[in-house]
Amino acid sequence: MLDSGVGGLSVLDDVRAALPAVDISYVADNAGFPYGTKTEMEVATRVCALLGRLTERLQPDLLVIACNTASTIALAHARAVLDVPVVGTVPAIKPAAEASRSRTIGVLGTQATVRQPYVARLSADHAADCRVLLHGSARLVELAEADLRGETVTAADVAPELAGLTGQADGDAIDTVVLACTHFPLLLPQLQAAAPGLGFVDGGAGIARRVASLLGSKAGEGEGRGRALFTRQDEQVDALAPALHRYGLTLA
Ligand code: DGL
Repeated sequence: MLDSGVGGLSVLDDVRAALPAVDISYVADNAGFPYGTKTEMEVATRVCALLGRLTERLQPDLLVIACNTASTIALAHARAVLDVPVVGTVPAIKPAAEASRSRTIGVLGTQATVRQPYVARLSADHAADCRVLLHGSARLVELAEADLRGETVTAADVAPELAGLTGQADGDAIDTVVLACTHFPLLLPQLQAAAPGLGFVDGGAGIARRVASLLGSKAGEGEGRGRALFTRQDEQVDALAPALHRYGLTLA
């Protein structure tokens, strides 16, 4: 599983719950963090090269791009160049449209994700009768990383980022927000406290189902091991060790 940082742990949580025996290598490309402020070319080149090296080194049965930014930009490229199945993480616009009563939904992702044609296509295909408001936030990504390092992140910290959605024209009609960055479900308690009236959806459970279906019986053959690899070693990685442990990962 690959993300730019710890965001993919929100996906790992669902995959682990569905598939307790599977062995998982979680790779955080912290040397390339953050992805959301990079260009499409930078993200696509970096992610495809890294997935290629990881596939050679780890010989996985399956790759999960546990990152909306990388998936909405590079999923097609990655599938074209790799010979293992690749599961992507793309904004959960379909379930959000199914849940919305007001027919106004918000999509909160990185700046790079919310400008992708992939997101416009998901909205056209699955939320054609909804108003879909978009907001990109780099700050929430930083806050999620800080939270996992054990720093205090409060509802007051996340509220201005939600206001980037709800403060737009028609934003007060939003009843459902798509957490379109895998970092953001890590801040769900703070987001819920900042906006108790909103529903939040993410794609983690759907990805777990897809992984289970692609792995088939292989999913039962592992030993439930988890290890975390980082593309750069620094003191911030050391600070993440307790959180990684809570997710069943040991630092490799
Ligand atoms: N977790 C990532 C995502 O789902 C990206 C965060 C970042 O590196 O900007 O989009």
